[in-house]
Amino acid sequence: MNLVIKGKELQLYFSKEQLNHMVVKIANQISADYQEKHPIFIGVLNGAFMFMADLIRAVDPQLKFQIDFIKLSSYEGKQSTGIVKALSGLKNDIKGRHVIIIEDIIETGLTITAVIEEMKKLEPASVKLCACFLKTGKQKINIQPDYLCTEIEDKFIIGYGLDWDEYGRGLDQLYYIQ
Ligand code: IMP
Ligand code: MG
Repeated sequence: MNLVIKGKELQLYFSKEQLNHMVVKIANQISADYQEKHPIFIGVLNGAFMFMADLIRAVDPQLKFQIDFIKLSSYEGKQSTGIVKALSGLKNDIKGRHVIIIEDIIETGLTITAVIEEMKKLEPASVKLCACFLKTGKQKINIQPDYLCTEIEDKFIIGYGLDWDEYGRGLDQLYYIQ
């Protein structure tokens, strides 16, 4: 079945099974690394919600952890503006805590670098970055996630929580636009 959004045909990039396989792999790594550390997973809304839900479901049930969310936006249309509008919504005091930031995709790296800088001001014990996707060769800042599902080519992707101007966020597989 062809999926068409705003007149563009979507091409499958990763199937549900492929995504699940990658997510389970990093959930296992995190479970092993954070035993007894009582980490706090902080999801970057909106894009990370689906990835985070899958990741959390794949984490070792023996692990004690909290979840929290921040919300910001640096994207308009298909271009990253590089401007982080607002870091808001954190409900927990992260001072002295082990933080794992959950991000959907890193392109320029500007968004997540700004987030990490803000987080560090709150004096957590540690901050690690867990991203679902990294667009190869597009970074304007040298940033390497501590946990990463996969690198992707320089294509605009949608689905699995990522939208294109509010279309496609609910697709449970990852697609790219031709
Ligand atoms: P960065 O600041 O350039 O790294 O932009 C990262 C943010 O832009 C991500 O959190 C996404 O929300 C959004 N983004 C980057 N690339 C894509 C894409 O291909 N599809 C949808 N959203 C994207
Ligand atoms: Mg995002």
